[in-house]
Amino acid sequence: MPSRLAMLLGGLLLIVASTTVAQRRGQEAAGRRRAHRVQHGQCSYTFVLPEPEPCPPEPEAFGGSNSLQRDSPAAALNLGDWPSQRMRQLEKVLENNTQWLQKLERYIQMNLRLELAQAQQHMVQNQTATMLELGTSLLTQTTAQTRKLTDVEAQVLNQTSRMEIQLLETSLSTNKLEKQLLLQGHELHRLQGHNSALETRVQALETQQQAELASLRGEKERLRRLLGRQSGALAGLERTLRAASSNSSLLQRQQHQLLQSVQRLMRVMAQGPASIKAAEQVFQDCAEIQRFGANASGIYTIHVANVTEPRKVFCDMEASGGGWTLIQRRENGSVNFQRNWKDYKQGFGNPAGEHWLGNEVVHQLTSRATYSLRVELQDWEGNEAYAQYEHFQLGSEGQLYRLSLSGYSGSAGRQSSLVLQGTNFSTRDADNDNCLCKCAQMLSGGWWFDACGLSNLNGIYYPARHHVRKLNGIRWHYFQGPSYSLRATRMMMRPSGI
Ligand SMILES: *[C@@H]1O[C@H](CO)[C@@H](O)[C@H](O)[C@H]1NC(C)=O
Ligand SMILES: *[C@@H]1O[C@H](CO)[C@@H](O)[C@H](O)[C@H]1NC(C)=O
Ligand SMILES: *[C@@H]1O[C@H](CO)[C@@H](O)[C@H](O)[C@H]1NC(C)=O
Ligand SMILES: *[C@@H]1O[C@H](CO)[C@@H](O)[C@H](O)[C@H]1NC(C)=O
Ligand SMILES: *[C@@H]1O[C@H](CO)[C@@H](O)[C@H](O)[C@H]1NC(C)=O
Ligand SMILES: *[C@@H]1O[C@H](CO)[C@@H](O)[C@H](O)[C@H]1NC(C)=O
Ligand SMILES: *[C@@H]1O[C@H](CO)[C@@H](O)[C@H](O)[C@H]1NC(C)=O
Ligand SMILES: *[C@@H]1O[C@H](CO)[C@@H](O)[C@H](O)[C@H]1NC(C)=O
Repeated sequence: MPSRLAMLLGGLLLIVASTTVAQRRGQEAAGRRRAHRVQHGQCSYTFVLPEPEPCPPEPEAFGGSNSLQRDSPAAALNLGDWPSQRMRQLEKVLENNTQWLQKLERYIQMNLRLELAQAQQHMVQNQTATMLELGTSLLTQTTAQTRKLTDVEAQVLNQTSRMEIQLLETSLSTNKLEKQLLLQGHELHRLQGHNSALETRVQALETQQQAELASLRGEKERLRRLLGRQSGALAGLERTLRAASSNSSLLQRQQHQLLQSVQRLMRVMAQGPASIKAAEQVFQDCAEIQRFGANASGIYTIHVANVTEPRKVFCDMEASGGGWTLIQRRENGSVNFQRNWKDYKQGFGNPAGEHWLGNEVVHQLTSRATYSLRVELQDWEGNEAYAQYEHFQLGSEGQLYRLSLSGYSGSAGRQSSLVLQGTNFSTRDADNDNCLCKCAQMLSGGWWFDACGLSNLNGIYYPARHHVRKLNGIRWHYFQGPSYSLRATRMMMRPSGI
């Protein structure tokens, strides 16, 4: 069909082209022409054809390759009666052309209409089909989309419902929370009230405590002051008590002695002067005799408890207050002091001159009361010195007449030349010293030798000008050194506190 239409259109165009050429020729000749118009649907074709006019023949004009021109009647022209014949011929050709053209036109018109109608029909059908296809595809798409939409809608609905449920739950929990919040707020309020009450109480307590503390502090200060005063008073009381107790013991002893003296006096008064001797028997030491009234130094008889025989003793009633009972005296070497244990125990010599009172008597006396010891020394140059011990005590024979001294004072050296505590008594036949040697044999006499010690008042009596460099002489180290033999010595005792 299109090929046919194209061929038709191609033919038409050829005609048009030839006519145009003819027309131009016509215009050039006379300028007359006639327009033919062909209306086909919306398209319109205009053919301009030259009007038949007398013009000089142009044989070349029709001599082309065109079949139409070859078909033209001009070929049969007769050159005899040329103008009129020619005119008629041309008119006929023209008329033929016109008719041919008209026929052509009609044909074209018919064909064109048919083609167009067919094309239109096809197009409509194709369009309809495509439209239908489109429509079906659209429909399918629409249905799919609709399904999807419904799905989405369902999901949205599901989600919405879920959200609604959640919202409901949330609102419920929110309500609960609000309720709890309210409750907590109430609780908080209550607690705040409680707290403020507690605070006020704490403040009150604090102020009370502070007040108490202040009062306590004041009390403490007062107590401290009181304590200080009391301790001072106590110290004073202690002092007075000590003094009073010493005074009272002294007073008691004095009272006791006074009572004894009074009894003795009454006995003497009752028996007369003859019985003075008998009264003497009750004296135990020179201190008692002095208290009884005797103020002269000399020989007196004493009765020591646990000692069967009465003893004659020398009493010194003058030195340092008197009342001293002599234990020992050296003055001219008339008595031998190289004696054994028994002699030193019982005593020897003459109380009026050189003698040793006896360890047993001294032990008995010092075990019954507290005694003091006084040692008096004299050198060959006429110097005198003394050593005094506030407390003096001699142990029993079983204790080897152990010496115990304390409270040293005196002028015979700044310290004692006798060992103060625990020295046992040794004689040539009783070695109780602290030396591997036998001090009593080496140094002679009986003494409280240590090892062998700084003193020995019972050593050998060396006469004048023989007294130096004598280790076994009568020594007192802190008075005249270790090898100086003294000229005279005395040892005496009396109760302490006189
Ligand atoms: C005109 O055309 C027809 C054919 O269509 C032809 O038979 C006839 O002879 C022609 N007339 C002239 C005068 O050429
Ligand atoms: C219809 O149109 C399609 C293109 O859209 C084409 O391929 C087909 O040949 C046409 N059919 C007819 C009958 O014209
Ligand atoms: C909502 O969707 C869930 C799955 O995501 C499903 O288990 C549930 O049954 C659905 N609920 C409704 C009301 O469709
Ligand atoms: C103790 O006695 C002495 C006299 O013996 C006296 O001077 C002193 O004041 C007395 N002390 C006291 C505290 O009584
Ligand atoms: C001792 O007493 C007598 C009187 O009995 C007196 O004459 C004498 O002066 C006294 N001596 C001393 C030292 O007190
Ligand atoms: C001394 O005499 C008393 C009784 O007066 C007695 O108890 C004591 O054992 C005696 N001591 C010695 C050493 O004889
Ligand atoms: C020693 O003194 C005593 C008494 O003072 C005396 O009796 C005696 O004769 C004296 N002996 C010597 C050797 O001087
Ligand atoms: C003195 O003798 C006693 C035994 O009676 C003994 O135990 C003591 O050690 C002696 N003292 C010294 C200083 O030797």
